[in-house]
Amino acid sequence: MCYIKRHTKTMIGENMRKKLIAGNWKMNMLQADGTALACEIVQKCRGDLPFDVLVCPPYTLLSQVVEAAQGSKMMVGAQNVTNTAKLFGAYTGEISAIMVKDMGATHTLVGHSERRQMYGETDAIVLEKASNAIRDGLTAVICIGETLQERDSGRALDVVTAQINGSVPKIATDKNCVIAYEPVWAIGTGKVPTNEDVAEVHQAIRMELTKLLGATLADKMRILYGGSVKPSNAAELLGIQNVDGALIGGASLKSEDFWAIAETQL
Ligand code: PGA
Repeated sequence: MCYIKRHTKTMIGENMRKKLIAGNWKMNMLQADGTALACEIVQKCRGDLPFDVLVCPPYTLLSQVVEAAQGSKMMVGAQNVTNTAKLFGAYTGEISAIMVKDMGATHTLVGHSERRQMYGETDAIVLEKASNAIRDGLTAVICIGETLQERDSGRALDVVTAQINGSVPKIATDKNCVIAYEPVWAIGTGKVPTNEDVAEVHQAIRMELTKLLGATLADKMRILYGGSVKPSNAAELLGIQNVDGALIGGASLKSEDFWAIAETQL
């Protein structure tokens, strides 16, 4: 078994938004490596930490990673849930939010751009997934972000605000929902937007959430940045206003890199 840690809250501006450092393992890791990675991260989560830690392994590792996380504050999430409102039934290959919850996970990603692009997930589908996740007691990490073409044509803000409107359920709160802004062109490419661009989009997201959910909830909701976050750029990205954490892909597969990112917030 791994380790126990405690969290404290950090003051960010006028808000109490604790940063969330989240790893998206994507379709990686077999049993032995995945369990080892989870245990290494749990071992590093010692003492009082001013941020939350979440890892999202593939379904096949959820059980082991939840077990490794027992007694620690490392949170575990899935990477996807079904969009059907049914809890169970004839949906071959699908996994419902209640099943993920039953595994001991607390979160799930929904609407990651790889799912939007490769598996045809529309805002309407992402909305259904997020609604099911929330209904069944998970925190939905709703991913949004523009393509390079959309950015180059000056439509980045329109795209992300439309995605917020289309895929964030009205029942979303700061407790059951996190937004992850991930420019599609920054994912796995080593490219990151300028600080100004990140700040502009995050502010626009916060404003759209305010329209959708009201200022009180919108102020408390965490908005993560994702896309080529690594130890060398994490401090800068996480220091930008309205950036309340990071969703990390490639660099979350090595505990040293994942933790080096988290440690920038100590
Ligand atoms: P990356 O992926 O950190 O490898 O760019 C981020 C993500 O897809 O969530």
